[in-house]
Amino acid sequence: MGRLDKYFLTEPMPNSHELDANGKTTRQNIVWMNDKVLPEATQHFMITWYEQSVMFCPGSHVHNADEYIGFVGSDPENPQDLNGKVLFWMDGEWLTIEKSAIIYVPAGVPHCPYIMLDVKKPIIHFSGTPDGHYEQSMPDSSESPAGAGSSRGNLNDLISYRCRPPMPGKDTDPSILTKIVWLDPSEMPGSPYIELAWFKKPREPKPPTHTHDFDEFVGFVSSDPNDPHNLGGKIKVYLDGEWVEFTKSTVIYIPAGMEHCPFVIEEMTRPILHFSGGPGSRY
Ligand SMILES: [Fe+2]
Ligand SMILES: [Fe+2]
Repeated sequence: MGRLDKYFLTEPMPNSHELDANGKTTRQNIVWMNDKVLPEATQHFMITWYEQSVMFCPGSHVHNADEYIGFVGSDPENPQDLNGKVLFWMDGEWLTIEKSAIIYVPAGVPHCPYIMLDVKKPIIHFSGTPDGHYEQSMPDSSESPAGAGSSRGNLNDLISYRCRPPMPGKDTDPSILTKIVWLDPSEMPGSPYIELAWFKKPREPKPPTHTHDFDEFVGFVSSDPNDPHNLGGKIKVYLDGEWVEFTKSTVIYIPAGMEHCPFVIEEMTRPILHFSGGPGSRY
């Protein structure tokens, strides 16, 4: 086992592949990251495919840390199209999401359940907190999903449907890398940072080698729900003095101060979902 292998996370959450009565997949987790699978992790992240209309996360709960919860369509040609609908309960209200989106759930705000409806193509769901130890607790109040509305103003303001704005001279051609959605404290004060995009073609090696003073994670995930752990390609990344190559859906945990990048897409036979995240206040 290599020195850096522990930072390349490829295992799904245990017992997370659920089937309907006919043996068809309803949901399956692809990969998760937290202090259970990597003790030094200071962030939690997980990504799951939903393939049928279903209700999930039945218990309303709160966290001590901020959380983001995303729902993204699986069509790289129409990245904003959710190809379904999500009803998401937060702080006494049902929010309706009909495009690829990230919801910012500030610490202490009760949320869940959510319901997937009219799923025409699989929906990619992800969530994360800038706190490696993911813990749920019940809200203090006796609020139920039938609660009568939030006192926090318009909760729709906590949903981002936006892509990162153009960065002249730095953006990759959209025929190579298509932005999906982005959450960033410059748009939503106090939020963590997370960004998703589709790689549709290999890109020149980028970005240049760098470090951060916070822990970051970067992910690459299959676009094929029937083959979700196989990237359908080969990627290599420079990390802490070594080149590491991988072919599975992977989240790479990058501790603060560790040199990383560029990454190189050496082969690809289909689009690859790409994301990166970190604590928003310092990204
Ligand atoms: Fe939560
Ligand atoms: Fe980085």
